[in-house]
Amino acid sequence: MAATTARPHVLMMSEITADGKLTLKKGASSKILMKYMAHETEILLHETRAAYDAIMVGANTIRIDNSFLTVRLVPGKSPLRVIPCSMADIPLDANVLGPDARTLIAVSGRAPEDRVAAMRAKGVTVVTAGKDHVELPLLMQILHDDFGIKKLMIEGGPTLNWHMLHEKLVDEIRLIHLPFIVGGSDTPSLVGGMHINTEDEMIRLNLKKYYMCGSNLVSEFDVLYT
Ligand SMILES: NC(=O)c1ccc[n+]([C@@H]2O[C@H](COP(=O)([O-])OP(=O)(O)OC[C@H]3O[C@@H](n4cnc5c(N)ncnc54)[C@H](OP(=O)(O)O)[C@@H]3O)[C@@H](O)[C@H]2O)c1
Repeated sequence: MAATTARPHVLMMSEITADGKLTLKKGASSKILMKYMAHETEILLHETRAAYDAIMVGANTIRIDNSFLTVRLVPGKSPLRVIPCSMADIPLDANVLGPDARTLIAVSGRAPEDRVAAMRAKGVTVVTAGKDHVELPLLMQILHDDFGIKKLMIEGGPTLNWHMLHEKLVDEIRLIHLPFIVGGSDTPSLVGGMHINTEDEMIRLNLKKYYMCGSNLVSEFDVLYT
């Protein structure tokens, strides 16, 4: 484990096209692509959610996809839904703020008090994890120490994926490969953020498993931080 403080074990799980994209085009919901997942792979996704203590996606994924992030296709408990949202500005009618499962919104010290109060009034837990923006290492520590989260899965999007990898907070990656090419130089891919400058900065992975799940190839990697 790369981090020095206690944190959850983290799995990044994502559906990606053959050209590494997460959605049809910038601003489009990934739910459109998810319709083309094999039923067996949908089951795998929901079984994975049920096996994890918490699930995290970025605030922009909530704005665009309006995800529920619950376990629906298999028996089992929905994980704690965790959304980093520095200004507490996801819509108050977002599905993730509904009663289907517990939700924790991580905000920064700059989040307006009325927004935080409105979220709490909906029964949502709000924690401050950073001064100007949400600091992911601190959030991981809070989830581990204060909420007993031992296993966390993240389901994107690319901005959150990049920050989590950059902070060396991801242990494993599981990809569901969709047999499509969507193209588009600004179409979100698995990892966004800043480009790297040298090969020394490449994040190395160890392919540990690959298998068919229905008609989808699934690949599993360990993340090797130096
Ligand atoms: N295929 C898939 O598996 C899959 C899964 C998920 C999403 N997607 C797609 O991905 C796209 C959205 O991705 P995105 O890159 O725009 O957004 P994102 O990664 O979902 O969310 C990023 C946002 O999270 C908030 N955030 C707060 N603290 C953060 C921190 N420390 N590090 C990172 N983010 C932090 C920021 O919003 P604030 O500034 O408001 O705090 C940031 O803009 C959508 O098109 C969606 O459909 C695809």
